[in-house]
Amino acid sequence: MNNDNNEVMLKVENITKRFPGTLALNEVSFEVKRGEVHAVVGENGAGKSTLMNIISGLLEPDEGRIVFMGGEVRFLNPREAQDAGIGFVHQELSLCPHLKVSENIFMGRLPHLKNTFVNRKRLKEMTDYFLEKFQADFAADDVVKNLTVAQQQIIEIAKALALDCKLLILDEPTSSITENETKVLFGIINEIKRQGMSILYISHRMEEIFQVCDSVTVIRDGCLINTLRTAGVTSDQVVRMMVGRNIENMYPPKSSGISDVILKVEGLKSKDVFKDISFSLRKGEILGFYGLVGAGRTEVMRALCGIDPCDNKVIEFRGDRVENNAYRRSIDRGIVYITEDRKSQGLFLKMSVENNISAAMIENIRTDFRIDRDKESALCGRYVGELGIKIASEKQKVDSLSGGNQQKVMIGKWLATYPKVLIMDEPTRGIDVGSKSEIHKMLRKLSEEGVGVIVISSELPEIIGLADRVIVMHEGTITGELSGDDIKEENIIIYASNFKTSSRAANE
Ligand SMILES: Nc1ncnc2c1ncn2[C@@H]1O[C@H](COP(=O)(O)OP(=O)(O)OP(=O)(O)O)[C@@H](O)[C@H]1O
Ligand SMILES: [Mg+2]
Repeated sequence: MNNDNNEVMLKVENITKRFPGTLALNEVSFEVKRGEVHAVVGENGAGKSTLMNIISGLLEPDEGRIVFMGGEVRFLNPREAQDAGIGFVHQELSLCPHLKVSENIFMGRLPHLKNTFVNRKRLKEMTDYFLEKFQADFAADDVVKNLTVAQQQIIEIAKALALDCKLLILDEPTSSITENETKVLFGIINEIKRQGMSILYISHRMEEIFQVCDSVTVIRDGCLINTLRTAGVTSDQVVRMMVGRNIENMYPPKSSGISDVILKVEGLKSKDVFKDISFSLRKGEILGFYGLVGAGRTEVMRALCGIDPCDNKVIEFRGDRVENNAYRRSIDRGIVYITEDRKSQGLFLKMSVENNISAAMIENIRTDFRIDRDKESALCGRYVGELGIKIASEKQKVDSLSGGNQQKVMIGKWLATYPKVLIMDEPTRGIDVGSKSEIHKMLRKLSEEGVGVIVISSELPEIIGLADRVIVMHEGTITGELSGDDIKEENIIIYASNFKTSSRAANE
């Protein structure tokens, strides 16, 4: 082995990985320096997660080798990689929902008393150390299943840090946390970087990459395109390398005409979660809902569609009072909700792409008691094409798709029902820059065609760029509404944090 300078922490050499029907990685090589934050970017399905899975011992490469801290390594499983000092926070969360926060963070390494009982006091102290560092708003003894996706994400990161690793892999760590939590995370990243730890950072958000990363490796269709210092390139250049073309004009034009009210909601209320929720949605507009995590946006939409019960609800849909509001009835009427939590609520992961896309439409492709496979395949083909879903075959199981492509399958499944009101919760989470703008265009097109579109997003630029009108929530109530030129970052933030000092009137 050549004893090259000890500055290099990780060296990936000519890694190739094939899956049935897919060459996921094609002779990829790059290196990560000690104390460096190194971004890996590429479109959905480019091979980023596969590469990380190989580095962390979860997958074996078909060809190539990995040198870690000066020696060649061949990890047979993630445990071996962990013991060698590689921590990994996965794109899809994988905590034990029924255990406490502390037990999750220190799983497999719980502190014990001499008599083999778990040392609860010590465990709590060890956990509190991390929770404080993250300024977390939950406790060591909370059970994970009661926490939000953002809070779970923080636990995953704490868990990896608690391993005292030398190389930390973060696969889209900010896709489900708030801007504030992101700031905290960046603070922590800078701190551990100073201690000489290296970080591999995957994200679709260019601003973040330029904010926190020193270098960036671009991959496209499984091939290495280049590794560069972030200081020497622009975001546009990186995006061009990723997609191989120019991405022009990120957001589609705003509404060309807003007309009748399609949906009217009055006095929606659910004890302790939200109250006094009244708003209307008009034809031709995209209505944005913004709020910090915990503001109650998801809960409102779920209650509105009849997924969750609520205490009081008056809904008018196209001028008629809606009575029976079970979710099945809501879907029949054409009011659908696309979840932010695709893994546990949105998809049948063990089923094929085509079964998933047809799942909400099964009545329409059934003749007698049999599913018409040709119709199913045609339906699948249409949405795979329209949304540019990257698959090896329509029979491929959804859990073997890349994260972003899973998200697109979920969108296809609901578009196939021809909704009249489409409510999307974080529609572009995990979606690459190019596809993101495709999804925005698609939402605008649906809206122009008369579909009522509601978008919940925690990404300010997305809300500002996309919505014709923005409703802002804070702790379960609507604190403001903005439209036209008033849709600006500073106005939204004032409402989202509900600064009482603001003398701004609610509308103008
Ligand atoms: N277990 C598997 N079986 C078959 N194909 C797979 C499997 N795992 C990944 N793939 C395929 O390998 C390719 C690369 O996937 P990968 O998850 O690495 O993409 P990614 O760059 O992480 O994308 P995203 O940004 O959407 O997360 C995709 O085409 C995916 O469908
Ligand atoms: Mg991925």
